[in-house]
Amino acid sequence: MPLDLGVLISGSGTNLGAILAAVADGRLDARVRLVVSNRADAGGLEKARAANVPVRVISHRDYPSREAFDGAVVTALREAGVEWVVLAGFMRVVTPVLLGAFQDRVINIHPALLPAFPGVDAQAQAVEYGVRVSGCTVHFVDPGVDTGPIIAQSAVEVDPEDDRESLARRLLAKEHELLVRVLGWVAEGRVEIEPPREGARRRVRVKRAPG
Ligand code: GAR
Repeated sequence: MPLDLGVLISGSGTNLGAILAAVADGRLDARVRLVVSNRADAGGLEKARAANVPVRVISHRDYPSREAFDGAVVTALREAGVEWVVLAGFMRVVTPVLLGAFQDRVINIHPALLPAFPGVDAQAQAVEYGVRVSGCTVHFVDPGVDTGPIIAQSAVEVDPEDDRESLARRLLAKEHELLVRVLGWVAEGRVEIEPPREGARRRVRVKRAPG
């Protein structure tokens, strides 16, 4: 059975575009059942429409709390038959309302090698800090900000000449590859997350491909 995805975006949606392209050419056994954007002007909405994927704009401004907003998102995702949720450039902190509805089935792509540079504008944080290597991380989402169990990471060298934009561009190319690869593992049922244990971080195991 293909993986039934819901993709949450806030911006240009190039990661969404990578997922849609991989689905379209058969590299990823998945269906994007719904794209939700919290912004009506998100460029990714056009990508979804061009691929005939249903879209919903749900503005966080229309809700009194993060929880109420997440409740509306959960309803839309459930109505669309979504099983797994991908945060692909979704610039809102999600709450236990979403995480509880899709327990251990919400993943995020972050443009840094976590736990370095969590939060907003990780690309600028990396340039400003002067690191020589940065990268991207795909991880399960937990109630913290970019703190959830790591599934996979990919490194990118940072040139002393890099500015935020040049690094962000190179990172995006890596992000697209990594996100599609991880979703492939999920579709094959190969991603396992440890059960919670008192006082220990939950880690992820990616099972070997059969054969
Ligand atoms: C990507 O670089 C993604 O990693 C980042 O936003 C960009 C979205 O690009 N996400 C975060 O910073 C989340 N904290 P896209 O809309 O073109 O996929």
